[in-house]
Amino acid sequence: MSNSDVAKCPKNLIPEYAFIGRSNVGKSSLINMLTSRKSLAKTSGRPGKTQLINHFLINKNWYLVDLPGYGYARVSKSAKKTFQKFITQYFSLREQLVSAFVLVDIRHNPQPIDLEFMQWLGENGIPFSIIFTKADKLRPKAIENHVEAYKTIMLETWEEMPNYFITSSSKDIGKDDVLKYIDDLNSNMTID
Ligand code: GTP
Ligand code: MG
Repeated sequence: MSNSDVAKCPKNLIPEYAFIGRSNVGKSSLINMLTSRKSLAKTSGRPGKTQLINHFLINKNWYLVDLPGYGYARVSKSAKKTFQKFITQYFSLREQLVSAFVLVDIRHNPQPIDLEFMQWLGENGIPFSIIFTKADKLRPKAIENHVEAYKTIMLETWEEMPNYFITSSSKDIGKDDVLKYIDDLNSNMTID
């Protein structure tokens, strides 16, 4: 189901997990890896133009939610951060959301927009994990260094490093870890 309006998203209480990140971070590729489909998530010819919230029902059990990138959002220099309005609406209104996954390209230094977005999630009490993408582009030592650099920056504002995953969609790395994490959260929610 694709929606341009948060109010029209599924009304049922199936747990959902939202995937978000800057354009070109590898979000569509990651979604296709997680679902073992070649083109479930389509890439837009005009990045930043897609303003849709896409709900994919997985195993009749949980929703994978594909959100537009925030790379094109203007982040004001003032304290008030202005991510695309409906991204903030989505995160503020969806009670079904269990956790967000913020995708960051492992090759880049921590980017202000990603850090500010995670800050915003934190301020709004929305749980999230970080998914480092494109790990195949770096050697193991460089991966380690980049993650350490990320931790250092995060620990300037966070008490602890959020949960994170190292993935590569082209080399099928990290798929089982992410899926197991989601499965564990889902099974912890059932009342027994
Ligand atoms: P938009 O939809 O345009 O915002 O981009 P996206 O975040 O969905 O990224 P997409 O999955 O379309 O990937 C962007 C580019 O990165 C493509 O050329 C992909 O082939 C490449 N890419 C994605 N994931 C990986 C990866 O794990 N490894 C490598 N080497 N390249 C990747
Ligand atoms: Mg995409």
